[in-house]
Amino acid sequence: GHVVVLAGGLSYEREVSLRSGRRVADALRALDIPVELRDTDATLLDALATDPPDVVFPVLHGAAGEDGSIRDVLELLGVPYVGARPDACRVAWDKPTAKAVVARAGLSTPASVALPKEIFHDLGAASVLDRIVDRMGLPLMVKPTRGGSALGASVVRNADELPAAMVGCFAYGDTALVERYIEGTEVAVSVIERGGEPHPLPAVEIVAADGRYDYTARYDAGDTEFVTPARLSPEATERVTAAAVTAHRALGLRDLSRTDLIVDSSGEVHFLEVNVAPGMTETSLLPRAIAAAGLDLSQVCRDLLTQRFT
Ligand code: DAL
Ligand code: MG
Repeated sequence: GHVVVLAGGLSYEREVSLRSGRRVADALRALDIPVELRDTDATLLDALATDPPDVVFPVLHGAAGEDGSIRDVLELLGVPYVGARPDACRVAWDKPTAKAVVARAGLSTPASVALPKEIFHDLGAASVLDRIVDRMGLPLMVKPTRGGSALGASVVRNADELPAAMVGCFAYGDTALVERYIEGTEVAVSVIERGGEPHPLPAVEIVAADGRYDYTARYDAGDTEFVTPARLSPEATERVTAAAVTAHRALGLRDLSRTDLIVDSSGEVHFLEVNVAPGMTETSLLPRAIAAAGLDLSQVCRDLLTQRFT
């Protein structure tokens, strides 16, 4: 038998996924596990059907990778795979839906509104922009409702920055999530399941060099400082950890996830989003959290595969 690591794909995060996929494949090969690192192309379905792997590790970010569609295919083929099921992916991938689900589970999440781009045509751009600022105040965070790696995302501190933020956002998606921007400490808490039980890893604090954790800050080594464990009070550490486990459970996720959160100056924790295929690159958060927990990336990846295979 063999293991297939799926990486690449056609999303805006293709390059990130290729880096993540190489890292996971290398981690498994270090344990002498036979791994085929495979892109998603026209020959994929045939290959999976003709020579079915024992298990697939999908490391596809963005659309198709995180929206559940590739996992629908794996379900159809009856090939076991690491990570959340398609229906759970669909809910987690759509940020407004995920926010609503975790809010019902008791988590705080910044006030927001989702605006399809047609609304700017129907109501007039100036009127929509004015109303956003009137209703939600400033600062704001603008990002595609479905996306990743901060592509199309920007912070709006002055009303005159809003039009450019909207244009930037609509370059990557058809619906904008306009969210109240909460100042505070940005942290990521990853969850790994063992024996069906979610185990949170140490919180990683993100300190972007110029305060903006954008695409470059994410993937150019040295642009961002990561502090692990995050510099939080024991109570706040407890709260972010519990929040990640609550999000993982409430969204019905499986095997692994990474929840991104903000801790405000009063110590309150706010859910931003959850990732069902967290980045695994050299600068990504989950591998850092694994190292901080004293775990080995190779062994964690192998355990995730073994869990699905048996
Ligand atoms: N969307 C990127 C890969 C991440 O969340 O790590
Ligand atoms: Mg994300």
